[in-house]
Amino acid sequence: MNNKPRIHPSAFVEEGAQISEGASVWHLAHVRSGSRLEENVSIGKDVYVDSGVTVGKGSRVQNGVNIYKGVEIGRFCFIGPGTTFTNDRYPRIGRSSWNVVSTILDDGCSLGAGAIVRCGVHIGAFAMVGSGAVVTKDIPSFCLVTGVPAEPTHRICACADTVMPLISFDGEVIRDCCRKNLNKEVLALAITRADESPDVLSLPKRTGSE
Ligand SMILES: CC(C)(COP(=O)(O)OP(=O)(O)OC[C@H]1O[C@@H](n2cnc3c(N)ncnc32)[C@H](O)[C@@H]1OP(=O)(O)O)[C@@H](O)C(=O)NCCC(=O)NCCS
Ligand SMILES: [Zn+2]
Repeated sequence: MNNKPRIHPSAFVEEGAQISEGASVWHLAHVRSGSRLEENVSIGKDVYVDSGVTVGKGSRVQNGVNIYKGVEIGRFCFIGPGTTFTNDRYPRIGRSSWNVVSTILDDGCSLGAGAIVRCGVHIGAFAMVGSGAVVTKDIPSFCLVTGVPAEPTHRICACADTVMPLISFDGEVIRDCCRKNLNKEVLALAITRADESPDVLSLPKRTGSE
C-alpha cells in the first residue's frame, strides 16, 4: 500500500522538515525546517508548524492553527479550527532576548474550536477543552474544561461519549462506550494513560467511623 505523505501543491514544506508516512499537509500550510510530523498526522489548511515542533502520531490539526516553537503535541490529539497557541508569556518589542515557554498537549487530548492556550500549561492525556475556552492552568487527564478562564466541569471518558461528575465513586474513564467506539490503538493508549494518570480529582477523604 502506498503510504507516502500527501502534500498539497500549494503547501510550503521547508527542506529539513520531517514528514512521516501517511501524513497529510493540506492547502497553504507552512511546515518549517526542523519540525516533525509523525505517522498519519493531518495538517489542515492555513496551518503553520514552527521549527522544533513535533506533532505526534495520528494527531489532527484543523484549519487555521499556528503551532509555535515550544508547543509539543502528543499522539492522537485533536486541535480544533482556529485554536491559538502562545509561546511568550510577557511579549514586548525592543527586548534583547525572550524565553520560549513550552506547552504540552498530552496524548489523546482534544481542543475545541477557537480555544486559546496560554504558554506553560500541560493539557492532560485525553482531556477535552470546550470551544472558546482560555486555558491558563494545567488540565488533569480525562477532564473536561470550559470557559474563561477554563475550569474543570466533568471527567470525560476516553471516547468522549460519557461525562461524569468531577468527584464520583464511579470515575472509570475507560468504559464500554470506549471499547466500542475507539480503534484498538487509541483504546490501548487510553488504557495505559488512565493507569498512569494520578487521580488528581480523587475522591474526598472519608471521615467518621469506617
Ligand atoms: C464542552 C462540550 C464538550 C460540552 O458538551 P455537552 O456536555 O454536550 O454540553 P451541553 O450542550 O450539554 O452544555 C452543558 C452546559 O455547558 C455549557 N457549555 C457547553 N459548551 C461550552 C463551551 N464550549 N464553553 C462554555 N460553556 C459551554 C452550556 O451552555 C451548558 O450550560 P448550562 O448548564 O448553564 O445550560 C462542547 O460544548 C464543546 O465545546 N465541544 C467542542 C466542539 C468543537 O469545538 N469541536 C471542534 C471540531 S468541529
Ligand atoms: Zn467512552
